[in-house]
Amino acid sequence: MDLKSKIKDLKEKKNAVILAHYYQVPEIQEVADYIGDSLGLSQKAAETEADIIVFAGVHFMAETAKILNPSKKVLLPDLEAGCSLAESCPPRNFKKFIESRPGHTVVTYVNCSAEVKALTDIVCTSSNAIKVVESIPKERPIIFAPDKNLGRYIMQKTGREMVLWDGSCVVHEAFSIEKLLEVHNEHPDAKIIAHPESEEHILKSATFIGSTSEMIAFVKKYQGDKFIVATEAGILHQMQKEVPSAKLIPAPAIEDNTCACSECAFMKRNTLQKLYDCLLNENPSVEVERHIREKALIPIERMLELSK
Ligand code: 13P
Ligand code: SF4
Repeated sequence: MDLKSKIKDLKEKKNAVILAHYYQVPEIQEVADYIGDSLGLSQKAAETEADIIVFAGVHFMAETAKILNPSKKVLLPDLEAGCSLAESCPPRNFKKFIESRPGHTVVTYVNCSAEVKALTDIVCTSSNAIKVVESIPKERPIIFAPDKNLGRYIMQKTGREMVLWDGSCVVHEAFSIEKLLEVHNEHPDAKIIAHPESEEHILKSATFIGSTSEMIAFVKKYQGDKFIVATEAGILHQMQKEVPSAKLIPAPAIEDNTCACSECAFMKRNTLQKLYDCLLNENPSVEVERHIREKALIPIERMLELSK
């Protein structure tokens, strides 16, 4: 039996579900029960009846699934699959940041640790961030963390002032505007679509800005057109599969950057073999201490309630 068949077999025997993010390698996407963006994945995690959740994504995503399912086993193929954004916001520093700004409503992007979520009033993802911020009464000042690029974008869209934490995603900050415009000159008929974690100059050049699943939905709407895609390259697999007629061009990254290929090294730590091994051994699993988990659940549930 090949590895994919073995995974499918084991998954059924153990009543496990495989949730995968669009940035995973194609072979992982192919064995997943559900592929989605951060919101879709947390919604699926909240409603699953499986005994085991295999989270093919990064640590904060698996942690969110564990917070929603404390009695279930949540497995992550590689525990080192972190996130530069989550790392840019150490809980201790963030606590001080909040304490020095009393009276603020704390909104955090889901790309942060459980400890940071435990300090949060409401969580958001890139697909509901505007809705979440608009749900906060106008007179309330807001702290937004950890992504300054998404934060700035929300401020522009909502007209709300927010105090921003200075964090960013190493992959989305690696796109080169000069090269992007060069590619656009070569393909003037292409629409530039971008994830809001990208820098302001990239977003200004984009026809459409949205979460990973919103970007796929946009491409679906225009079928046979050409698109320059400014987000992690793993999305191209599912995008092309869902819209075979679309011509997709990955947005170029700065050459001397470690992420020159616009791939997320954290997401790519997961492999099909590691996925199989973790399902077989039921290890590594993601754990969250009870006192953190109980506090972090509240802002996640607020977000899910608002996103129904
Ligand atoms: P999405 O929620 O849009 O999938 O974003 C997740 C992410 O990590 C983007 O870098
Ligand atoms: Fe984190 Fe960026 Fe990787 Fe997304 S692409 S998981 S934000 S490092």
